[in-house]
Amino acid sequence: MEKYVIHGGKPLHGEVTISGAKNAAVAIVPAALMVDGPCIIENVPDIVDVKLQFEILKEMGVKVTQLDATTFQTENNGVELESEAMFRRMRRLRASYYFIGAELGRYGRAKVAMPGGCNFGGIRPIDQHIMGFEKLGAFVRVDNDGYITVIAPEGLKGRHIYFDVVTVGATMNVMLAAVFAKGQTVMENVAKEPHIVDLANFLNQMGADIRGAGTDKITITGVERLHGGTYSIIPDQIEAGTYMAAAAACGGDLLIKNVIPKHLECISTKLEDMGVLIEEYDDSVRVKRCGVLRHTTLKTRPYPGFPTDMQPQMAAVMCLADGTSHITEGVWASRFRYADELESMGAHIKVFKETAIIDGVPELRGADVVAPDLRAGAALVIAGLAAYGRTTISQIGLIERGYENLIQKVTAIGGDIRLEEFVD
Ligand code: EPU
Repeated sequence: MEKYVIHGGKPLHGEVTISGAKNAAVAIVPAALMVDGPCIIENVPDIVDVKLQFEILKEMGVKVTQLDATTFQTENNGVELESEAMFRRMRRLRASYYFIGAELGRYGRAKVAMPGGCNFGGIRPIDQHIMGFEKLGAFVRVDNDGYITVIAPEGLKGRHIYFDVVTVGATMNVMLAAVFAKGQTVMENVAKEPHIVDLANFLNQMGADIRGAGTDKITITGVERLHGGTYSIIPDQIEAGTYMAAAAACGGDLLIKNVIPKHLECISTKLEDMGVLIEEYDDSVRVKRCGVLRHTTLKTRPYPGFPTDMQPQMAAVMCLADGTSHITEGVWASRFRYADELESMGAHIKVFKETAIIDGVPELRGADVVAPDLRAGAALVIAGLAAYGRTTISQIGLIERGYENLIQKVTAIGGDIRLEEFVD
């Protein structure tokens, strides 16, 4: 087993380059299954979840070639949709549900192993995915043994779909299925996150007809086939935000490169409220903090609201702010599993249902902590980098699901973090 060992208390300086967006990549890679001919995907993040998606494609029989560090080519010359090896890999990540939309769209049937992944919010329902597939004319069966089977014996037909909940996963999954549905599909009350727009742009680049992505109404006119092409995944909003939060917590002066500043505005504004200096350039942001951090209030909401996936990292910053900060989590029922870990580092956090109240402390101290999930783990890395003394973080596999080359990137900006083997 491995853990991170961090000696904190050092400001961060220099430059860090952000990788491709995880939550776009985990949908775009399965979507490659829908493409005829060579499909080249650039700016692919080198993270466990995306590697697993490519492994699943390979198990199916898709030819996957890595062209360089961040570019992959896929070619679907005929696939086998069901194999035990494939199902074993699917069970290891929640985003495997995007194979339903891609397989159903292309082949009129899909079978996937039930999703796993971060489980911070208790049950993570997929009723909206199922509702969308059924509206398009598919039959869905969820088995007790962990499989979801979806079939559309008469093909999919474009329909009007109104989502009861704004959900990223269902918006992307039903969008995938509707690409080849006959006629027009109109999806309303959909999610607007940058990765929704990225998936639509990818599919359109390959010949789909999707309009309105990024608004709350998406219209899809079915096409016969997708042709090959090249597409570059957008930079990861949350990875960028995590380094912004790290610079705020530790102090220093960091240039964060390969970002879309517009996607970071909600995070930049909140950090500015806290007294952090943010400068925006065309494709980078500079984050500088030398003075005291001020307390603030934040509520997570679907985009363009403050992203839930940045809430734990901001909590780590709030732990060091002057005064009392408040967080209201508006997306996941409970996402405060970092609270006990941060408390063991000297933080003062009280959690009441969907709210956390954080009384800032002058400093955090190193401790032995456990990453409860991906973003909570990122919050612990930030806290460890800012804290005085030695912090160890175990269960780092959860963190590495979402952050490419974390050790190398943090070390390059002056953080003292290394990997250590230990016996459980
Ligand atoms: N929901 C339903 N029914 C559904 C689907 C969702 O009620 O059928 C509810 C959920 O319970 C939740 C809300 O809708 O309260 C939002 O869920 P959403 O479907 O948007 O989340 P997701 O697609 O499962 C993705 C990201 C998460 C991120 C959320 C919200 C991936 C693989 N995961 O999850 O990312 O928190 O959107 O933005 O894209 C992360 O990166 O750390 C992460 C957890």
